[in-house]
Amino acid sequence: KKVAIFASGSGSNFERIMANIASGYLDHIQVTGLYVDQADAYAIERAKRYAVPVHLFELSAFDSKAAYEQAILDRLVADEAEWLILAGYMKLIGPTLLEPYEGRILNIHPSLLPSFPGKDAMGQAVRYGCRVSGVTVHYVDAGMDTGQIIDQVACPVYADDTVETLQPRIQAIEYELYSRVIKTII
Ligand code: GRF
Repeated sequence: KKVAIFASGSGSNFERIMANIASGYLDHIQVTGLYVDQADAYAIERAKRYAVPVHLFELSAFDSKAAYEQAILDRLVADEAEWLILAGYMKLIGPTLLEPYEGRILNIHPSLLPSFPGKDAMGQAVRYGCRVSGVTVHYVDAGMDTGQIIDQVACPVYADDTVETLQPRIQAIEYELYSRVIKTII
């Protein structure tokens, strides 16, 4: 299956997916491109290492979100991408991309949804004093982290945790869970 990966930042989840393709665990997946909306996203460096084509689309270069997404869609269609995998892509998917790909867009989120959608999910869990948090992989709909949940894994949050100490526990789960869901669903 041909998939496109979307990222805005570090891209460590993207890199783990690429490693799992290289190792043969995700041998049915072909990544047509990394789509980034930030010119300084470190994910771009990771894509170069794996020889993945980088498609930089900056919203500011377009008159509207619809025009921005139409340019992305044109590229996706030209590459025959069948699924979209969001990995730290910090924009809502608008109707221009959602309609053609609905049911074939995945996202990963660092909380047990529906708790703590949006930004700073780990910070919210720590500040609330949660003793359990985790990771959710879900289908993408028009809302912010509101789509149908596919799978979740929980982890403890300790009384003295900060975002900095919780993050590696969450990330370790993300790296394993996302590839497992991709293997099962796609
Ligand atoms: C991850 O925590 C993911 O759950 C969230 O954004 C973060 C992306 O991290 N959606 P990275 O760019 O993959 O390192």
